[in-house]
Amino acid sequence: MIRSLRSLLVLTSALAACVDDGGARLPSSEFSMPVDVHSLSRPDAVRVTHLDLDLTADFDARVLTGSVTLDVERTDPTAPLTLDTQGIQVHGVSDGAGAPLRYTLETEDPVLGQPLVVELGEEAKRVVVAYSTRAEAEAVQWLEPRQTSGDHPFLFTQGQAILTRSWIPCQDTPAVRQTWSGRIVAPEALRVVMSAEQLTPDGEPADGGRAYRFRLDRAVPSYLIALAIGDLGFRAVGARSGVFAEPAVLDSAAAEFEDTERMIEAAEELYGPYLWGRFDILVLPPAFPFGGMENPCLTFATPTVIAGDKSLVALIAHELAHSWSGNLVTNAVWADLWLNEGFTVYFENRIMEVLYGEDDARMLRVLGWQDLQDDLDAFGATSPDTCLHLDLAGRNPDDAFSNVPYEKGALFLRTVEGIVGRPRLDAFLTDYFDRFAFQPMTSARFLDHLRGSLLTDDAEWAQLDAETWVHAPGLPTNADQPHSARFAAVDAARDALLENDALPSDAWAAWTTHERLHFLRRLDGSMPADQLVRLDEALGLTDSGNSELLFEWLRIGIRNHHEPTFSALRGFLVRQGRRKFLKPLYQDLVKTEWGKTLARTIYDEARPLYHAVSSRTIDQVLEGAGA
Ligand code: BES
Ligand code: ZN
Repeated sequence: MIRSLRSLLVLTSALAACVDDGGARLPSSEFSMPVDVHSLSRPDAVRVTHLDLDLTADFDARVLTGSVTLDVERTDPTAPLTLDTQGIQVHGVSDGAGAPLRYTLETEDPVLGQPLVVELGEEAKRVVVAYSTRAEAEAVQWLEPRQTSGDHPFLFTQGQAILTRSWIPCQDTPAVRQTWSGRIVAPEALRVVMSAEQLTPDGEPADGGRAYRFRLDRAVPSYLIALAIGDLGFRAVGARSGVFAEPAVLDSAAAEFEDTERMIEAAEELYGPYLWGRFDILVLPPAFPFGGMENPCLTFATPTVIAGDKSLVALIAHELAHSWSGNLVTNAVWADLWLNEGFTVYFENRIMEVLYGEDDARMLRVLGWQDLQDDLDAFGATSPDTCLHLDLAGRNPDDAFSNVPYEKGALFLRTVEGIVGRPRLDAFLTDYFDRFAFQPMTSARFLDHLRGSLLTDDAEWAQLDAETWVHAPGLPTNADQPHSARFAAVDAARDALLENDALPSDAWAAWTTHERLHFLRRLDGSMPADQLVRLDEALGLTDSGNSELLFEWLRIGIRNHHEPTFSALRGFLVRQGRRKFLKPLYQDLVKTEWGKTLARTIYDEARPLYHAVSSRTIDQVLEGAGA
């Protein structure tokens, strides 16, 4: 606690030392903070320290209405409080005693939204903003019952990267942390969950439904404040972990995630205590645009990860790992997303290795390497979007989203591991998560620390060539390419199919999902139709209940213009909204004229079912292709 208080003070003075020139870093006593080009708030002058929500969810109007009360710390006693908002309707602003405060909603920036500037009296420490969201608020998706597995509507929010401002007026930058609390009123039949400690698991009677209260005493950035409302059941899977899901998915979800407690133990063994109390998993309806989201105390997960055999649970290890990399030590700006995601992919793989063994972890690393190569090829090796530290000025951070911060970031740490060995790297990381807990991190600050406390030896530092890793495009020559002997056998089976038309039926039955994925990824676009038909019959691909396998098969179908897969393709694209699946499939389609037509027809039907995160991306895919 003492450490995090001190860090807040450091952050405040560091922010105060910055000039607003769009990216310059000025030195402060301890470290320098970059300006966050994705927030119009001014935490350097007046900073939010606690946020209290009081909202009612109106499913008919699709709005959240109520207020947020903000406690502020004032560095500049004459400065106003400046908050980020996007599409928020402000009904009024008052101080803690109920006296109205003057405010202006300034001109809208198309990417960043509208700053809400509140004039503060001399003594003011508390600001209450009465507001409503709009039905189109980008963070919030309101689902019809037909988009769920039951008969009830559903609502969820997705804050990362810069969407929280569309449902909460706040200082929407990962460099500002606040504790928070909330009271949410929802219709009687539904249950409310949030990314915090639940104070009233069963809710309390309230006007217009039931009220649920929450609190988080550990300070978090705004992107980690999350809400979901639906017909939710709960099943414990461990002493501090459990699953929330709609009743129809609860059993399968609890079975899929039964290893969660062992994952938490493995993670703690690696890098120190889990500091967030509970680690529950909320399984969302299939429209959820991500695989997972590391909301504190309550990871949000796509139902497409439920394969029936635990073969896709690396995703849970990933979101769990964020409880250290991301939620304790947080990228200060979105340009340094790799500090969240790259560290997390490295950590995730270490957890997987403890639970499922070296072979399994190795295969996952090779699949990750392939994902990275695909993106490097697509961007081109000299593209600035292949740097770890990104240039996001004037852009929505989401538009630069790729595997680069994830997989190149993880490779960076694996390269460090290769130089210093695991024991030294692990000791360094354990100390890093402790030392910088509840603090923002930048590439510069990290490299400084790495040099000063791990790679103190000049030769080791030179061997790593960290500046090239972080600031140059492409993949440095010292990157440690992973290999898997198990995949070598899969490659042989693929050659046998393509050269001798030999179906790998027996091998397939013995393979893990990772081997099957590797096999499918390596089938190209020149396969005879009858071979594809026989392959499908032998391996049951079109009917696969494993979303990752189905995805790879549907890509093969598009590459080969294999019409028998198109109705499954349409089904997959309207049934789930996970961007990682949608984007490549639509991209594959728009490469051809027939594909463009098909993409447009499917998208007309599917777009209203997608979250804004996904529809924004797919809009760009189709527009870019003139489709
Ligand atoms: N925090 C991310 C999701 C995210 C990143 C949302 C950037 C918005 C902006 C989450 O932890 C994540 O990485 N999810 C992956 C999971 C995968 C790597 C196991 C996903 O959704 O695919
Ligand atoms: Zn992640």
